[in-house]
Amino acid sequence: MKMFIGAIDQGTTSTRFILFDHESNIVASHQIEHKQIFPKAGWVEHDPLEIWKNTKQVIETTLQKSEISDKQIVAIGITNQRETTVIWNKKTGKPYHNAIVWQDTRTDKICKSLKNNEKLFQQKTGLLIATYFSGPKIKWLLDNVKGLRNAAKNGNAIFGNMDSWITWNLTGGKHLTDVTNASRTMLMNLKTLDWDAELLGILDIPRKMLPEICSSSGIYGKTKFGFENEIPISGILGDQQAALFGQTCFQKGDVKNTYGTGCFILLNTGNEIVHSQNGLLTTVGYQIQNEKPVYALEGSVAIAGSLIQWVRDNLNLIKDAPEIDELAAMVDDNGGVYFVPAFSGLFAPHWNSGARGTIIGLTHFANKSHIARSVLESTAFQTRDVFDAMQKDSGLKIMKLKVDGGMTNSKLLMQFQADILNITVVASKIAETTALGATYAAGLAVGFWKDTNELQKFWKEKQSWNSKITKDKRIKLYNKWQNAVKRSLNWEK
Ligand SMILES: Nc1ncnc2c1ncn2[C@@H]1O[C@H](COP(=O)(O)OP(=O)(O)OP(=O)(O)O)[C@@H](O)[C@H]1O
Ligand SMILES: [Mg+2]
Repeated sequence: MKMFIGAIDQGTTSTRFILFDHESNIVASHQIEHKQIFPKAGWVEHDPLEIWKNTKQVIETTLQKSEISDKQIVAIGITNQRETTVIWNKKTGKPYHNAIVWQDTRTDKICKSLKNNEKLFQQKTGLLIATYFSGPKIKWLLDNVKGLRNAAKNGNAIFGNMDSWITWNLTGGKHLTDVTNASRTMLMNLKTLDWDAELLGILDIPRKMLPEICSSSGIYGKTKFGFENEIPISGILGDQQAALFGQTCFQKGDVKNTYGTGCFILLNTGNEIVHSQNGLLTTVGYQIQNEKPVYALEGSVAIAGSLIQWVRDNLNLIKDAPEIDELAAMVDDNGGVYFVPAFSGLFAPHWNSGARGTIIGLTHFANKSHIARSVLESTAFQTRDVFDAMQKDSGLKIMKLKVDGGMTNSKLLMQFQADILNITVVASKIAETTALGATYAAGLAVGFWKDTNELQKFWKEKQSWNSKITKDKRIKLYNKWQNAVKRSLNWEK
């Protein structure tokens, strides 16, 4: 009987289930989008029950489409949008509130009140104080949902990111998470890999409501729902760490960029915790069973692919994402137009929550094609901002960037990325690196694959790009971008 391995990829915009074979080829998949709920400007929510329903549905449909029986599935890995926060009742399984999504900025006031403790948080968790992370979101829920604080104190209300929520539902009540997800809460100590009592005290979060922290690869439990037969759940990684794993960035110095809703660049720094002096985050890259954790430096860009969706839905300049290339290709350059998509402030390396979106450099000459180009270029420029910070922090000269995610379909963007970084940009054959990473973690735990050396052999190049512009041009373009960024900062005080 041919055996397969599966991954649940619970992303910001959709949930997918993907089945891979032993050679790490995709054999079947299904994907369902979920509702983005915007109750107020700056607020973003998801319905956790809708996401759980979609999870069951994508599994069922994938199995139906592929005619693969669940007896042929050796294990399942889970990867997820990180930081997004759910609190639910452990007796009824009902959420107390919609999930607060990573992009949501409602915790701005809470974050400002924590600024005095920024050094402490950075030292212990590797993170800066930002609305992005789960800790302030948990505090907001405890402060604002009636009766929730009491329920958390007496152990009825429990917290999880999407990985915990899905695992809890799939296993019929196991409350756990992995180190990579826990490292995005602002509550986990990077050295001990445990919840930090001092930080919990500052945020006034009862430890009782938090999940057990496990490694990223290991058998956590078995499925009680979704499948006829019980299947081990044996890998969990936050989506960006999963992409790092799926790109087989197992060596210190390996770096990848995933161009999805946002854009996330991670650099493997080995077993060493590198603290950033330049606005990057330090995070857990992965931990395989009882081995030492591997750490990473991360640059998170909030708006990348979602800007293409915004151009489609709010400006109606294109009908679908691939059209952006056609529109942009009608002109030779950006015509002096720069677009800083600071829709929810700017993340790395600026961390300016008051920044707002800016289109600058407009003249009578500018047309919609220049705007399309500036939209694509903004992702490459934001990546450059992070890239420069990464080289400074790590002291490494990075020569190659592995890329994946939906926006790598834009050839124009990939060429411009190589132009503006002046290094080789290389896309992997398997585009679904996020799901693949979770699958690899799950497969290692059950012996489907032997070790990371075996996994490395599956990595194949699809296409690569090198710079086609002069040094002079590169400097001019990047200077203009930096000026545009300056003008977007602190628009809201
Ligand atoms: N041809 C294209 N050119 C430019 N952008 C594209 C193209 N195709 C897709 N995109 C963008 O890529 C993004 C989707 O990428 P991807 O599927 O990797 O994200 P995702 O994994 O669904 O995101 P998330 O996990 O955050 O929900 C969309 O925002 C879309 O606008
Ligand atoms: Mg994704």
